[in-house]
Amino acid sequence: MRTDTGHVFKLEDYRASDYLIPATSLDFRLSPDATHLTALLTIERREGVAASAPLVLDGDGLTLLGVAIDGQALSASDYEATPDRLTILKPPATRRFELRLETEIAPSRNEALMGLYRSNNVYCTQCEAEGFRRITYFLDRPDILSVYTVRIEAPHNEAPLLLSNGNPVERGALANGRHYAIWHDPFPKPSYLFALVAGALGKVAGSFTTMSGREVELGIYVEPGKERLAGYAMDALKRSMKWDEDAFGREYDLDVFNIVAVSDFNMGAMENKGLNVFNDKYVLADEETATDADFANIEAIIAHEYFHNWTGNRITCRDWFQLCLKEGLTVYRDHEFSADQRSRAVKRIAEVRTLRAHQFPEDQGPLAHPVRPRRYREINNFYTATVYEKGSEVVRMIRTILGPETFRAGMDLYFERHDGEAATIEDFLKVFEDVSGRDLAQFALWYHQAGTPNLTVSSAHNAAAKEFTLEIEQSVPPTPSESRKRLMHIPLAFGLVGADGKPVAWDSVEGATVDDGVIHIRKRRHTVRFSGISERPSVSLNRGFSAPITLSVQQKPDDQFFLAAHDSDAFSRWQAFNTLLTDALIAAFRQILGGKQPAFAGRLAELAGRIAGDETLEPAYRALALALPGEADIARDIGKGIDPDAIFAAREALARAIAEANRAAFSALYDSLVDKGPFSPDAASAGRRALRNILLDYLALLPGGAGLAARHFAAATNMTDRAAALAVLTHRHPGTAEAEEALAAFEARYRGDALVLDKWFQIQAGVPGARTVDKVRELMRHPAFSIANPNRVRSLIGTFSSANQTGFHRPDGEGYRLFAETVLQVEKRNPQVAARLATALRSWRSLEPGRQAKARQALLEMAKAENLSADLRDIVERTLA
Ligand code: ARG
Ligand code: ZN
Repeated sequence: MRTDTGHVFKLEDYRASDYLIPATSLDFRLSPDATHLTALLTIERREGVAASAPLVLDGDGLTLLGVAIDGQALSASDYEATPDRLTILKPPATRRFELRLETEIAPSRNEALMGLYRSNNVYCTQCEAEGFRRITYFLDRPDILSVYTVRIEAPHNEAPLLLSNGNPVERGALANGRHYAIWHDPFPKPSYLFALVAGALGKVAGSFTTMSGREVELGIYVEPGKERLAGYAMDALKRSMKWDEDAFGREYDLDVFNIVAVSDFNMGAMENKGLNVFNDKYVLADEETATDADFANIEAIIAHEYFHNWTGNRITCRDWFQLCLKEGLTVYRDHEFSADQRSRAVKRIAEVRTLRAHQFPEDQGPLAHPVRPRRYREINNFYTATVYEKGSEVVRMIRTILGPETFRAGMDLYFERHDGEAATIEDFLKVFEDVSGRDLAQFALWYHQAGTPNLTVSSAHNAAAKEFTLEIEQSVPPTPSESRKRLMHIPLAFGLVGADGKPVAWDSVEGATVDDGVIHIRKRRHTVRFSGISERPSVSLNRGFSAPITLSVQQKPDDQFFLAAHDSDAFSRWQAFNTLLTDALIAAFRQILGGKQPAFAGRLAELAGRIAGDETLEPAYRALALALPGEADIARDIGKGIDPDAIFAAREALARAIAEANRAAFSALYDSLVDKGPFSPDAASAGRRALRNILLDYLALLPGGAGLAARHFAAATNMTDRAAALAVLTHRHPGTAEAEEALAAFEARYRGDALVLDKWFQIQAGVPGARTVDKVRELMRHPAFSIANPNRVRSLIGTFSSANQTGFHRPDGEGYRLFAETVLQVEKRNPQVAARLATALRSWRSLEPGRQAKARQALLEMAKAENLSADLRDIVERTLA
């Protein structure tokens, strides 16, 4: 574990390194406790750098066995070596020389899962962001691009499969049952993209013919016996490869493309050149073990990592401040892919829900940072919703502003101009300025300024003058270390909707640039006047979620109801209904706090019924509309004084009101949606299951509900229905015989299947109410649980702390205590996973005073623990600041 030096890295301190490493040759002798590595680095002094400049290489916990330059072993006075650094004091005067390093590492003892480690008897690596320095001393920074040749040697029986980046060159048998393989990657790459995998794995083979007719061999490697579960991932990979050719003109560039699924992995997956390594959760699936959401995630993540081949690998980042250059852009690309493969409207709504659930609270709390941060203590803590999801929204806005053709021309120029380079956000913006002739300086604030902008909008109609006016005012709330904000360029897509539901045309408009259905907000205030409008229209704002902002609209509920029924923009129609639901829930919350019974307008439940039964709408869309805003969403929109129990009560009361008002219709629709015929994971079938399962969630609140859910559970023929029924039973009817029986049946059926038992942990960790803390403690002792495995920890502890508002925020602070204790326990092995978990308390200041004090106590408890890792200290201190 790296000790916290307290060092703050600053964007403005970037300096090119004195030395380059044009070629890297690695020779691994694998062994669980003592892997021996010989690294041969071709070092080149950069033009203009004094020959006396020392060469300083990064390390992290390394043991150096030997060091030589141009074949000559160095004497002790020629270098300084610590586990974390190797300094060659007086490098040779020649511009180029060969540095030979021998190191020894113990993959079996690597529980941080960074660098070279063992997962389930398989050797694998994770080097992003700074894991390569745990393998050998190196200039471990993304602007050092090197051509790698890798030789791997191991006992054949332990590791029949030996993989690395690039193309296979040679393999052969050696004495004593050993064997070796050599890989060569012709594309210069940064060290964070290095990968090695070795072990006994099963292979699923495929092939893809690229647009220029080259044949690429595809391989997905999984635990032996699980090959059958990789078929969907293979199909998703082929579709991704084709889509990148069609949508962006990007062709794959090596002879092989391999994916390996491992069961211990800190994140979702990793885009190592030609050798993607995945959390097995995002590869393995069939109807018996995976939900529709799992299938959709697999498709999206396979695509995401594949798309990195161009956005991330061929063009990489100059430094880690530029992380969004590859991540925001690649998320944008995977979103577009999924939209094309599935339903665009449904995908967009799901994206926005995710952004609001994860990025908005980040932006509104103590961990807020710009899409391109300027400071970090631990870069691993910046793989955030802001960098990824908001980063994607920023790319989407560029496309909205420039239009699809110009955007594509900009992307083409980006690939042409920067292929083979380590680039910056400035480089990225420049290509769009060059192809469009526009100045994007004000727009660039989206990268540089943290916080979610708000637009306050009011409207007025002057019938006599036939004029319709929108008053729009922008503000950006202050965020940590950024108290004064500059005015942003916000592309606000909109529509004026007439009483007949049709778009209303205007003669002329003044007060802002309006083109192609977008108002360009650039000033603090705009008074936008539309002339030639005889009747007062309804305004549909931020259509398609054209900008990641919040809106404060002075609009009558009548308008909102009208838009929820008639807006021609599917996203905005969903939004209008969701806003009505949110407003009703917030009002109910206040009624409950005031000791009153919440009451809801009858027409809201009526509208829910109408949307549910509207056959002109896709089932998946209807399912999303009927899903009430989550408890955390409601809390975020309320903002302060949060009492999660009152929110829970408000939400349940509304669900009950909707269910009661629509009992017969929901029940008939539920019956009509029963799955017939063979299972298919396609979006339309998944949409029908989603609608039926959300209807079950409502119907379960009515008399006989537990029985209905129990029958749903028993009759399920796939994991989507089975897991949905189990969640409904345990969350709506906790502790009942039906719930307990279903939990036991599920556990018995999937004993030994870790990924499926994760769902079982997850569902139980999510059970609302005060008793779940104790249940979580008990489940931590379950034989299938392991504190060393990130998936287990996230399923149980992650779900409890980030998706169970009433359980985690138990008024007596018991939830926080369990949480702090567990985070510290995880941290001893895996600081990165612990730090990620710890972000669950980022919104602690919005809680009511009693809980707030207890949450603070838990944070202080963590802060004062000894030998805190840089990862956890960074999160805890920023959260408390
Ligand atoms: N680049 C990976 C992705 O595609 C994520 C890797 C994150 N690794 C880390 N150590 N934080 O999203
Ligand atoms: Zn990524």
